[in-house]
Amino acid sequence: MNIQSAADAIRRGLLVGMPTETVYGLAANALDARAVLRVFEAKGRPRFDPLIVHCADLAMARTVARFSPRAERLAALWPGPLTLVLPRLPCIPDAVTAGLDTVAVRIPDHPLALALIRAAGVPLAAPSANRFGRISPTTAAHVAEQLGDAVACILDGGPCRIGVESTVLRPDPAPVVLRPGGVTRERLAAVLGEPVVLADRSARVEALPQEAPGLLASHYAPRSPLRLRAPGEAWPLDAALLAFTGEDLPLGARSAVLSQSGDLAEAATNLFARLRELDAAKPGLIVAELVSDAGLGEAVNDRLRRAAGLG
Ligand code: TXA
Ligand code: MG
Repeated sequence: MNIQSAADAIRRGLLVGMPTETVYGLAANALDARAVLRVFEAKGRPRFDPLIVHCADLAMARTVARFSPRAERLAALWPGPLTLVLPRLPCIPDAVTAGLDTVAVRIPDHPLALALIRAAGVPLAAPSANRFGRISPTTAAHVAEQLGDAVACILDGGPCRIGVESTVLRPDPAPVVLRPGGVTRERLAAVLGEPVVLADRSARVEALPQEAPGLLASHYAPRSPLRLRAPGEAWPLDAALLAFTGEDLPLGARSAVLSQSGDLAEAATNLFARLRELDAAKPGLIVAELVSDAGLGEAVNDRLRRAAGLG
């Protein structure tokens, strides 16, 4: 499938599977409310959960959102895995922002995504291309599995380089990370020259409503139940095991390893694909261990906790 026909599909209000450096997105024309509603329908996503608007360059981003001095500084990290929550401009329909007066914007660092946005000539609203609450896709085959029937086509950009979603940051009045992701807080703090805090669990996006635990699907969830390995707990022998380095895995266990060398970027890249592989064998239980919490580990551990329903 080439870029031109994918761009035509976008202009006709259809959906396209789009690779980015983080995960694959389910893309629609962000200026077309009807196309955007198709995204919610295809994912089974509640309408009150707003979408990220993907732009090709800063000039396009300035047509959808108002940039503060902090936002201007952070834009130095674009193209890249950073989403800024900024005051929205009128061209963005309510369907995209769920009626909020802010819009989430990013410029993805992937040649096919940038080419698609340019060829379509419009910003693209794109959530991760998975059914609501399920594991995010890091290959074109993952997208085809869950949303193949909903898209006009899927652009195949191979496996995603980063593997976890973008960091969602609200820059003003003080910089707060609403979802840890592909850019670390250390990096953001260095660019801004000031501390960047992680929002309280309850204030983060993708948090489960406190009053209704268990009613909404947890995020990033495999089909088999997943629990976290307790500190010091021996690996159980009757579950599928998701290990960080795997050095203490029992022999013969059904298991997957995120990074043998303990590299957090590699662990992030592998996380969703390994989780899917374990889940595909339909184990009665998946037990996963947290990685170290530094750098990209914050994003990996966030996804593991949510997969365990601890969002
Ligand atoms: O890496 C990524 O961010 C991927 C790729 C495809 O770009 N996209 C992605 O989209 O992860 P999605 O829809 O799965 O997650 C977007 C998150 C949601 O948790 C949503 O609630 C939050 O961003 N969000 C969107 N607009 C917002 C806004 N105006 N204020 C606060 N949070 C917002
Ligand atoms: Mg998602």
